[in-house]
Amino acid sequence: MIAIVTGATGDIGKEFIRKLYDEVDSIWAVGRSDEKLSGLAELYGDKIIKVKADLSDKEQILSLCRKIESEKPEIKYLVNNAGIARMAPVSEFSLEEISDMLDINDKAATLLCRASLPFMTEGSYILNVASASAFQPNPYIALYSASKAYLLSFTRSLNVENDGITCTAVCPGWVDTKMLPKKNNGKEIKYPGMVNADIVIDAAIKDARKGKDVSVCSFYYRYMRFLSKVMPHRLEMKLWVSGIKEYL
Ligand SMILES: NC(=O)c1ccc[n+]([C@@H]2O[C@H](COP(=O)([O-])OP(=O)(O)OC[C@H]3O[C@@H](n4cnc5c(N)ncnc54)[C@H](OP(=O)(O)O)[C@@H]3O)[C@@H](O)[C@H]2O)c1
Repeated sequence: MIAIVTGATGDIGKEFIRKLYDEVDSIWAVGRSDEKLSGLAELYGDKIIKVKADLSDKEQILSLCRKIESEKPEIKYLVNNAGIARMAPVSEFSLEEISDMLDINDKAATLLCRASLPFMTEGSYILNVASASAFQPNPYIALYSASKAYLLSFTRSLNVENDGITCTAVCPGWVDTKMLPKKNNGKEIKYPGMVNADIVIDAAIKDARKGKDVSVCSFYYRYMRFLSKVMPHRLEMKLWVSGIKEYL
């Protein structure tokens, strides 16, 4: 029985591995850096199977899917966690950057779900790491936010389609990882409601076991989700932009 974790070398990925390590026989740790993957194997032990793949490259995503199809592992957990973000207006992104973000954040996760489903049985889990930014449109992280909204919607539908396999969209707010820059123009950036990765993963696993299709780990972001349902998004976007404008 295995777990597949993408973005395994990132802060949230490492925490998923730590939490799932004792539950499975091996973990396919998917990453693009040989060196970082070797570091993971040293850190956690010989259950770590290094799987090198750059998920911005369609051929490498498909080759990972083919590996699943040919090895036919019994998959207990699929954790689609790899993701990238950048705060800037869409007009400042190159076409290649946009394409990479959509491939890593959405295409890879979607194809891996499809490739893994035949090898999952009742009691298996798909955890797709989305974000609280999926709850509303967010100018200046428009691409990231929209990519996570896709993942949230896709995961919830997948959960209904697949009896016995729980599919959970993990939607944290700010998490203290290397994804978040600490300073902007020499000014310390404030991240309201920021939590550590272990809180996100504990809640995600707990919520998945309860059969929930969405996991939001803190009261603060559950409240933000509630607001996104009752407040006009036009107003929410105004508030968001006024909160981040000093960093633009
Ligand atoms: N931090 C937050 O505030 C926050 C909030 C909500 C949701 N999330 C989501 O949480 C997930 C994990 O992020 P994190 O905070 O743990 O950040 P992180 O430490 O930067 O981890 C990102 C992971 O994605 C991998 N990755 C990036 N580009 C890749 C590519 N082309 N091919 C394969 N893997 C690639 C990275 O690999 P390398 O190690 O090689 O760079 C790393 O393992 C992401 O999906 C993110 O959107 C984060």
